[in-house]
Amino acid sequence: MTAVGIDAIEIWTGNLKLDLPGTFAPEKGEDPEKYTKGLGLNASSFPDSYEDIVTMGANASHRLMERKGLEPDGIGRIDVATESSFDNSKPVSTYVAGCLEGVFEGDFHHANKGERKFACIAGTQSLDDAYNWIRADRNRGRSALVIATDTALYARGDAGEATQGAGAVAMLISENPDLVELSTEQGYGSADETDFLKPNQQFPSVDGKRSVQVYLARMREALTDYESVAGDVHPDDIAFIPFHTPFPGMVRKAGLLGYRHITRDTTIEDDLADEIGRQPRREAFDDDEAFRDSVREYMDLLKGTDRYKAWYDATIDPTLTLSREVGNWYTGSVHIARVSALKNALEAGRDMAGETILVGSYGSGAQAEIHAETVQDGWTDEIEALNVDDQLADRYDLSWADYEEVHDVHNHEMDVDVEEFTTPDGEFVFDGWGRMGERK
Ligand code: HMG
Repeated sequence: MTAVGIDAIEIWTGNLKLDLPGTFAPEKGEDPEKYTKGLGLNASSFPDSYEDIVTMGANASHRLMERKGLEPDGIGRIDVATESSFDNSKPVSTYVAGCLEGVFEGDFHHANKGERKFACIAGTQSLDDAYNWIRADRNRGRSALVIATDTALYARGDAGEATQGAGAVAMLISENPDLVELSTEQGYGSADETDFLKPNQQFPSVDGKRSVQVYLARMREALTDYESVAGDVHPDDIAFIPFHTPFPGMVRKAGLLGYRHITRDTTIEDDLADEIGRQPRREAFDDDEAFRDSVREYMDLLKGTDRYKAWYDATIDPTLTLSREVGNWYTGSVHIARVSALKNALEAGRDMAGETILVGSYGSGAQAEIHAETVQDGWTDEIEALNVDDQLADRYDLSWADYEEVHDVHNHEMDVDVEEFTTPDGEFVFDGWGRMGERK
């Protein structure tokens, strides 16, 4: 069977940065370590006043097409995954295609375009749609462009405010890919949940603490479902597990879940059961305070063991490097985690070709998906070509007053005008609702 998967990836960060320990913490009267150690975040990316989901998606896609020497007629499908859409009818992919048609020869008139929504998991769902389209042999030899783009903003003062972020990830899905092949096996955990939602509103209504429990419950179900089709996962066979990363502290918890699940190591639980007189874990998370306390005890014990630390440092920690600097990009978040792991492997001089990574995607509402990916021979060239470190270093560092202005500019209910902080350089820029971005 011909391999199908991700041929290339490009990342586009919002051009501004909010420093969490330096700027956010003092304003909130909080200990900076709540953010750096507790949530695991150093900074968030923000869009400048001339940026939005269209421009960031178009900028990432433009770079990807140029680098891969692609013209529009090589792309038969454009899907945008976002939960920050501003148009309830016209998909964001049409706006992005409009931007790209302004600079490339040819057009996307024979490409199928759409928009996918299921909170943060929509990026992976779009990847799956593209995979299925190619597998069904409906692609006429063409590739699919999948763009995950979000301005992940919360209302000011919301507990989620520290986890904001903005950026886009563009992925080219093709036969015989250069980066990773996707597995046919997938596992799902899905249930109707209301801990994070945006009914007719831009900023989410969130029950943050519950959202953490729902994430873990659905992820656990997805792992079980995946193993029911792919067979038991052996920890030695998995190089990395990039999880959806709303903030790295969340993934510390998901890491414990993953470790327990794939190693089937119950020794800590058994020790704890002797101590507390019952098994500390059940099949599903619930609201029982005593249960949560025993899980926390279990986690604290496990986290302290050398075998867990070694596994976490090798398998999970490398997936978090980029996320620590950019915050939550919603649909793009798990795709940044994959890049982060491969970038760390490249910098460590590790040969990843043929290795397997397990990808744990999640979207509130709620659904988790697990699939595997096999790293391909061309991965080093693909990861070396990324300029994400330069992009992060070039961001403008917002003061608190700047941040409040920028937040208002991106609030769809406010009509404020703010000077831009950075100068667009070879970028698409936002020039009014409903119009395509012009390239400066
Ligand atoms: P909070 O109340 O501000 O923070 O909200 P906290 O008091 O729970 O503290 C956070 C962590 O920092 C805790 O660690 C503290 O102990 C620690 P934990 O106990 O969880 O391991 N801490 C400190 N550590 C060191 N030094 C200190 C210190 N102080 C505290 N001085 C919350 C946290 C997650 C609730 C909030 O950020 C929130 O509401 N976020 C938005 C929702 C969210 O991200 N949920 C994640 C799961 S749902 C998801 O991933 C989907 C999503 O991406 C949306 C989508 O799918 O579309 C959000």
